[in-house]
Amino acid sequence: MDVQKSIKQDVLLKKFTTFRIGGPADYFISVHSTDELKEALQYAQEHNLKTFVLGGGSNIVFSDEGFRGLVIKIEIKGIVCHDTENSDVMLEVGGGEVWDELVSFSVSRNLYGIENLSSIPGTVGATPVQNIGAYGVEVKDCIEWVEAIEIQTRNIKRFSRKECLFSYRDSFFKTACGRKYIIVKVGFRLKKEGVLNLSYVDVAHYFTQKKSPTLKRVREAIITIRGKKFPNLNEVGTAGSFFKNPILTQKEYKLLKEKFSDIPSYYNDATRVKVPLGFILEKLGWKGRTNNLVGTYKNQSLVVVSYKKATCKQLVSFISDIEKDVKNKTGIVIEREVTLVV
Ligand code: EPU
Repeated sequence: MDVQKSIKQDVLLKKFTTFRIGGPADYFISVHSTDELKEALQYAQEHNLKTFVLGGGSNIVFSDEGFRGLVIKIEIKGIVCHDTENSDVMLEVGGGEVWDELVSFSVSRNLYGIENLSSIPGTVGATPVQNIGAYGVEVKDCIEWVEAIEIQTRNIKRFSRKECLFSYRDSFFKTACGRKYIIVKVGFRLKKEGVLNLSYVDVAHYFTQKKSPTLKRVREAIITIRGKKFPNLNEVGTAGSFFKNPILTQKEYKLLKEKFSDIPSYYNDATRVKVPLGFILEKLGWKGRTNNLVGTYKNQSLVVVSYKKATCKQLVSFISDIEKDVKNKTGIVIEREVTLVV
């Protein structure tokens, strides 16, 4: 690849994020292989350019001023399947593959494991970073390894699942050390004979009214459930849940229960309880509220949406108001799930 020729200048970043917010990148390049990525990184080093790596842009907001440096969009494709000794199937998948196309591919081949993660926007390479999760499943449950390039040396390193340090919406790749790597390939272990996970209340409820669950029907169920809770990306901008659900100590949870006696909880061990922030936001009057051109979605208050011509400044002001209000009224300091590049 001739990097110099492939680089574009002054590229509007809003076109590359699902929030549709963000000014121009000074320089922008799409890379289709690890070699092209290495060349782009070398070019950035030689020209002293800051780099930012972009996948599907579904969990990111750029500032209105854009990005002073080189944005590298990962378009590394490819899915290679092979059987393992114990009848599982390994899929080696390029980081630039579209996540939901991979889910569709595995379900169509009767491979179990990631069906509950249907319909999540974004690319495969982004999924380990925040350990995407939905309807009782986290992507870490199926990841065997992650391959990444170290930006400085351009060496490739394979991280085992253990080395990825996965936890709720978190991983090694979000740490200062992990940010020195770019994910290029992910190894998934899927099952030919798996067990369906119907533990999430919405999924269980779907199948009390419908036919018996199968792998394909679970995917359909998730697509239907998500369709009701998330806005149409053709109509508004969004990045799904804007904040993480808070994980509280038992003491904090008890205090919250005194305020909202009917609050559900996700898991409840001896020390920690995860609670749905969407529920709290609705109780505090945030559901469907709009200020300027940003707001919370009418069917799900954890989902922040942006309307045409919304700015990053308006978004930051809106979410800061939410953060302050939750802190003032419940004492909980909430954490953002979406990355703001400002
Ligand atoms: N709820 C309300 N009002 C609201 C929103 C939610 O009362 O406005 C209540 C619901 O009725 C339900 C509970 O809160 O009892 C949980 O709501 P929901 O099932 O919609 O899930 P969530 O906790 O808001 C999380 C993930 C989603 C994932 C769903 C399903 C986080 C930050 N979000 O949302 O993931 O799809 O569970 O598993 O953990 C994402 O990370 O971007 C994302 C969309």
